[in-house]
Amino acid sequence: MAHPLTKAAALVTDNPRASKVNDRFAALPASAFVRLRALLDGRPAAMAAIDMTIGEPRHPFPPFVTDVLAENSADYGRYPPPGGSDDLRAAIADWLGWRYDLGARALDPDANVVVVNGTREALFNSCMALCPLEKGRKQPIVAIPNPFYQCYAAGAAAAGAEALFWNATAETGHLPDLAALSQETWDRIAVVFMCSPANPQGAAADRAYWSKLLELCRTHNAVLLADECYSELYYDAPPTGVLEAAGGDFTNLLVFNSLSKRSNLAGLRCGFIAGDPDLIARMWKLRSLGGAPVPLPVCAAGAAAYRDETHVIANRALYAEKFTHAEAKLGNRFGWRKPGGGMFLWLNSQIEWGVNGARAAQALWDLAGLRVLPGQYLARETESGNPGTDYIRIAMVHDMATTEDALLRLTSLDPSVFTKAR
Ligand SMILES: Cc1ncc(COP(=O)(O)O)c(C=O)c1O
Repeated sequence: MAHPLTKAAALVTDNPRASKVNDRFAALPASAFVRLRALLDGRPAAMAAIDMTIGEPRHPFPPFVTDVLAENSADYGRYPPPGGSDDLRAAIADWLGWRYDLGARALDPDANVVVVNGTREALFNSCMALCPLEKGRKQPIVAIPNPFYQCYAAGAAAAGAEALFWNATAETGHLPDLAALSQETWDRIAVVFMCSPANPQGAAADRAYWSKLLELCRTHNAVLLADECYSELYYDAPPTGVLEAAGGDFTNLLVFNSLSKRSNLAGLRCGFIAGDPDLIARMWKLRSLGGAPVPLPVCAAGAAAYRDETHVIANRALYAEKFTHAEAKLGNRFGWRKPGGGMFLWLNSQIEWGVNGARAAQALWDLAGLRVLPGQYLARETESGNPGTDYIRIAMVHDMATTEDALLRLTSLDPSVFTKAR
């Protein structure tokens, strides 16, 4: 039987009533996971499966979270406030001030912070809510790094904007080239998404990069939506946050982060938007009218998690151990360099095996039971091709033993399988 998401994708495109409904999402490709099923379904794997597709942390979350949820369970009976609890916003403002050395309460918990139920929906909603209908009497542009986290393109579609896929390749340090866009293009750009450390490449923007990007956005009156959900998973120095580069002026800037990766609480759905008070007020209002607020017991658990760094340090150490092992196993094979942060290996199968990521993903599944994502599904076609085509993405979410097993299977794959198949 077809998976419900595959069915939904078919409905959007095949439905004869499609013209009667808003079909602005029809052109969006199905999610990478649905496309992977189409690529691998029906193909038996020669070894026990290890799924390294989804970036869902498998490390334990801090045990105190369960206690705090239980202690506050009476509050499940109450409607939560749209901006989150005062205490959680205060904990977030304090954490941001400490993490980015902003000084005490540089961010006002009421004016600069709003609590959201994870950042995926918040990124989508912010683009939809803040992108104007026109810019300079033209259709606005939403600039999206390419490859990218797929909800950005859904946000651009919701806003009725043109999505501009801004290549972030090895040649440009896996971040978009800030000099690549013309003045004319910038005049139409209303929203810029940026992710650092980036999913999938792990590249981290430095202070100069953030400052330049913020300056460009302000000069051209565009809003910068900075997705920093991997900020706490790093392998050397802590990645610079855009708030550090902002120098106390948050105009045109919103930062998104959550407990999903920092605290392995992807299922808690607890995060925040922080930055420009005018934009925060708009998002707060929208949440009060049509948003799903974060339940009060979750706010209490979130505040406790933001006030504890011990579990974050321990979590980072688990990832660091796996990335150190990957470095020892891979060296610079697959054109790889240990990234600034994040939880993925972004490997160039074309360099290593002479095949694209889709072919590599099939072979890794067939012969080694490794389920990985073809990079092509995480990026879009541009004039210079799809920058993900030559890559596979491997989520390093498992425990050390499973990771070792997976890396051994990856590096033991005999490349002659590809030449034989040609
Ligand atoms: C780049 C990026 N941004 C945002 C998210 C959304 O995370 P959450 O909604 O759990 O905060 C993810 C999740 O994997 C992600 O990879």
